[in-house]
Amino acid sequence: MNSVSPGLVGRIWPRLRRGMVDAGLGELLLRLNVLGLVETRRKLAFQHIAPGSCGLEIGALHAPLPLPPGAHACYVDKHCVDTLRTLRADAATTLVIPDLLADGLRLHCIAAESQDFVIANHLLEHAQDTLGTLCNWLHVLRPGGTLFIAVPIGARCFDRGRPLTTNEHFLADYELTLAGDTAAMRQRNLAHVEEHLAISAPAIAALQGQSWVPPGDGERQRLITHFLDHNPEQIHHHVFSRTSLGELLHLLCRVVGGACRVERVAASRVEALAIVRRLR
Ligand SMILES: C[S@@+](CC[C@H](N)C(=O)[O-])C[C@H]1O[C@@H](n2cnc3c(N)ncnc32)[C@H](O)[C@@H]1O
Repeated sequence: MNSVSPGLVGRIWPRLRRGMVDAGLGELLLRLNVLGLVETRRKLAFQHIAPGSCGLEIGALHAPLPLPPGAHACYVDKHCVDTLRTLRADAATTLVIPDLLADGLRLHCIAAESQDFVIANHLLEHAQDTLGTLCNWLHVLRPGGTLFIAVPIGARCFDRGRPLTTNEHFLADYELTLAGDTAAMRQRNLAHVEEHLAISAPAIAALQGQSWVPPGDGERQRLITHFLDHNPEQIHHHVFSRTSLGELLHLLCRVVGGACRVERVAASRVEALAIVRRLR
């Protein structure tokens, strides 16, 4: 019987993987965990999260961040495990059971300056007010605490073709939310839902091997109401690259008057990662 030379596999696999990611299959590879993604996250986590520290991981779902020895995370999610099982049947076998059911974008039930770390992987892109969400996460960190974030790279997932979100857009969302201008925010969020229906939803259907039938008027209206009023975090409101994530976090540092510092911005094939340290 012929055996496959490991050298041959070593040469062919990276090209095949690059081709699949370029063809928009990054999300599929991510789910199959063949992108070395866990390794990249683990490396950063072990470098930047202190052994023995305690914090939160929001929306771990099926991919809790590996933590250094003695570190402990309280798992926060908006949904209970049974709902997660129905919403994400693809991830159902390996779900993390949340310790705390809460709105992890606001964290109102968590005391200020109480956490050594906050981890949020593939959650920030679901937030309507991105800068406000980052401020909420900083608020519960102790001075010296670590914010660990990962977001999908738009061009390498089902958002390919959507424009990158600019800092001007993030700042306007933040100011409108602070001003309580819900009507203006609703208009902006409607634009995100329309982008999702035009670009992301057909790509998700293709990834799942389903054909995409554009919704008729009634179904389209039902989906818009669902995404605007009932489960706004079910879609990606904003789209990132490694560079745009770095720019957003530098804007955050300015917005909070230098109370945090960007320690690291990194990327694997399909996601951008960052470490932000709260300073005071
Ligand atoms: C796309 S999954 C991320 C899964 C995983 N962390 C990863 O890296 O792939 C988003 C997770 O965040 C949760 N989530 C969404 N909105 C939330 C909110 N407002 N508060 C808490 N959890 C939320 C979802 O239920 C889900 O478990």
